[in-house]
Amino acid sequence: MFEGKSIILGVTGSISAYKAVEIASKLTQGGIEVDVVMTASATEFVTPLSFQSITHRPVHTDMFSPVTDFDIEHVALAERADVIVIAPATANTIARLALGLADDLLSCTVLSTSAPVILAPAMDVGMYQNQVTQENLERLRSRGYTVVGPAYGRLASGLEGLGRLAEVGEILAVIHQVLGRGGDLSGKRLVISAGGTQEPIDPVRYIGNYSSGKMGYALAEAARNRGAKVTLITAPTAISPPPGVEVIQVQTALQMRQAVIDKAAGADALIMAAAVADYRPQATAGQKIKRKPEKLSIELIKTPDILGEIAGDLIKVGFAAESEEVVENATRKLKEKGLDFIVANDITGADSGFSVDTNRVIIIDRIGKVDRLPLMLKSEVAQKILDKLAVRLAGGSSV
Ligand code: C5P
Repeated sequence: MFEGKSIILGVTGSISAYKAVEIASKLTQGGIEVDVVMTASATEFVTPLSFQSITHRPVHTDMFSPVTDFDIEHVALAERADVIVIAPATANTIARLALGLADDLLSCTVLSTSAPVILAPAMDVGMYQNQVTQENLERLRSRGYTVVGPAYGRLASGLEGLGRLAEVGEILAVIHQVLGRGGDLSGKRLVISAGGTQEPIDPVRYIGNYSSGKMGYALAEAARNRGAKVTLITAPTAISPPPGVEVIQVQTALQMRQAVIDKAAGADALIMAAAVADYRPQATAGQKIKRKPEKLSIELIKTPDILGEIAGDLIKVGFAAESEEVVENATRKLKEKGLDFIVANDITGADSGFSVDTNRVIIIDRIGKVDRLPLMLKSEVAQKILDKLAVRLAGGSSV
């Protein structure tokens, strides 16, 4: 979704510089134009050729190189860049930026840009915790720089502490978030539920379902990248929630209901992608149920319909996982729950619905328009759903 955007990736002299190659690779794979600017000490750790081979673009290392004509080019690059990311950013580079020095290509470029700047510090724990580094970072933050990390862990010095470069995934998430500022969902607050609730039977057993959480997580990530402020309310899943969104972990339908009620207040939209149990055991046994009687019955009672209950001035989107008469059943749910639109899928296909990475959905709106989408990745389905949400948020009646 960020195809054609332009990023300057600044790499400075830290042992973690090799991780910047992966950052460059992931950004390039996403269709983003990546111009790498390396400090002299960074080239001691990784070669410019590694970056050049990945980005298919010249790598800039020397301000005075006669061949690159960079004294003009760095201004052009700085002007064109949508974001500048410095990963890893050493204590030395951070200090130079805080002072506004321009004694190498990277600091020159940063000084002449009006693009947002992201710093991913990496250094030894002592350097990081030193008051001067903390003050420099604070000064840069107060000027609008975004700082991601550092993480806690084992450092190259053998010490353990704060100073590791943040995870590549986390740095990429922050880049996407910054690129998404001004997107079509900026200023909107979205609540998205995901995963399958678990209804406890006794201390070791529960009633669950096959929901993987992938669709809801893909929606949260895509909405974040379009500028929305996202709260993800998630039942247990085996996948990691996207960074840059508020995450609320719940287990049961009743917990999810409370979290949705709390967070939906004042939100612009609620998307319920969670597979919420429709029934739960009336009582949870205090002790593990013994394997004694020949037959065992568990009394189930209905859970509240969260989506149906939520009222107010917000857009409501539901999902309908159906095994038969998909459009009819989904349309009935849309009406019963008072939804703006519903995303229905036929869960009988092996390539669609629970657990898999792809989905084939039908989106039905309030006035009965039926949009049958082809088989797509869940990340692509998420974009289609958000396209329709953006139409509704802008006041469109049909999506
Ligand atoms: O009725 P059904 O469970 O099929 O409805 C599916 C939709 O309703 C989903 O969007 C689901 O998240 C939501 N739901 C709910 N509360 C329940 C059950 C389902 O909000 N108790």
